[in-house]
Amino acid sequence: MPEQYDLVIRGGTVYDGSGAPGVRADLGVRGDRVASLGELPEDATAGETIDATGLAVAPGFIDVHAHDDALVFTEPDVTGKSMQGVTTVVNGNCGAGVVPYGGISRWGDAEGAPEWDSYAGYFAAIERHPPSINVAILVGYGTMRAGAMGGAGERRPPTEDEAARIREGLREGLEAGAVGMSTGLIYEPGRYTTTDELAMIARECADFGALYASHTRNEGARVLEAHAEAIEIGRRAGVAVQISHHKASGEANWGRVAESLAQIEEARARGEDVTADQYPYTASSTVLAAMVQNAGQSGYELDGESIIIASCAGHEEWEGRSLAELAEELDLPVDQAAARILDAVPSTLIVHHSMSEDDVRMVLVHPTTMIGTDGLGYGSKPHPRHFGSYPRILGKYVREEGLLSLEAAIHKMTGMAAAKFDLPGRGVIAEGAVADLVLFDPATVAEVSTYEDPRRAPAGMPHVIVNGVAVVRDGEHTHARAGRPVLRGRE
Ligand code: CU
Ligand code: ZN
Repeated sequence: MPEQYDLVIRGGTVYDGSGAPGVRADLGVRGDRVASLGELPEDATAGETIDATGLAVAPGFIDVHAHDDALVFTEPDVTGKSMQGVTTVVNGNCGAGVVPYGGISRWGDAEGAPEWDSYAGYFAAIERHPPSINVAILVGYGTMRAGAMGGAGERRPPTEDEAARIREGLREGLEAGAVGMSTGLIYEPGRYTTTDELAMIARECADFGALYASHTRNEGARVLEAHAEAIEIGRRAGVAVQISHHKASGEANWGRVAESLAQIEEARARGEDVTADQYPYTASSTVLAAMVQNAGQSGYELDGESIIIASCAGHEEWEGRSLAELAEELDLPVDQAAARILDAVPSTLIVHHSMSEDDVRMVLVHPTTMIGTDGLGYGSKPHPRHFGSYPRILGKYVREEGLLSLEAAIHKMTGMAAAKFDLPGRGVIAEGAVADLVLFDPATVAEVSTYEDPRRAPAGMPHVIVNGVAVVRDGEHTHARAGRPVLRGRE
């Protein structure tokens, strides 16, 4: 009897996600698993065969920093992510959760999304309405705090009762399978929290082996202080730390990543599990409201030339234009123009050109850095990271600049992420592992999206497979809804 598979991938170079160099191998997939890895017999039969000659075969990319909480329902193909090889997103970053505690609304444009009232309910909704890619989640501290305290504007610490409710919400999420707790400490209400408050509540994560992920309090002049706080919270709570989108923002602060990388190394030398994620661009992207709230601090200057409107629902004519241009058109100083725009559209998103290329490169090559897009796929001029982060690294930084090896880059996108976020069976290619796979041509893979025209699929990435099912085949999305909830520590 010839061996039978649902899918056979022949002739590719397999990078297993561990950081080991590629090896020539065939893959046999049965159901949602890699059943065989190595040389397949000539007479093996398959429902489908992919000729991977000349292609790299890697574990599907794990986007550890995602904000697709609602997008997985409103745009279930999750085109920006699936076309760039992402097979799992970790949602709920930056303190912004999906559970509407106390009537606090969900992140993003959730119109058309099903209803849920808990993290277990969110996972159940994913099961009922599966998107094309897998979904893991962090519990957003900001949303929970706002729900427990009656709003995001509360500057005081939580009372004992409120802290108990926050803990209860966090435990519900962790029991349901969330990978940890996230904070966004430049945003409301994160900016009103204290280190003590966060260290105390993050302790709940320790019982579950879950981690603490933080968009820290400052990515400019006080970046070291802010990272030190995140590291301290992890130490006091007894949990691993993930520093979100590692960077130094603002020209006066360029070069500081050398120190912030050394700081992570020092923590690791003490035995603390501290790592970071990064998107490979010199521009950031966030809500305009946060820029206004933090304006004046070094790294958060309201500089009209460097801030571009990304998404502005109802005023699409402003999208793609700089704050300086709009200020001139409105005949207002830049800060008043920003206020006017926010009055009209409070949820306005911006792209902020704020980092140095040298810093981006230094963080990217560092062994403590893994990859996450931080994509915000809304509006007509979203940051291209939502569409091109992974192919940009593989094309620009690996092939063109030789900054890091292909196997090192793939490890940062797969095995390293799965180990840190405790996603067993994913991020690796091995017999018995889940068949989340991406096939790309190392000679041509490239980001096609740009700041001016961001909604473009990459080149050289013809096949993406999620749980054994092709969601991208020959460069075309198949609209297969193969994604599942991915729970911490469970296959
Ligand atoms: Cu984020
Ligand atoms: Zn963030």
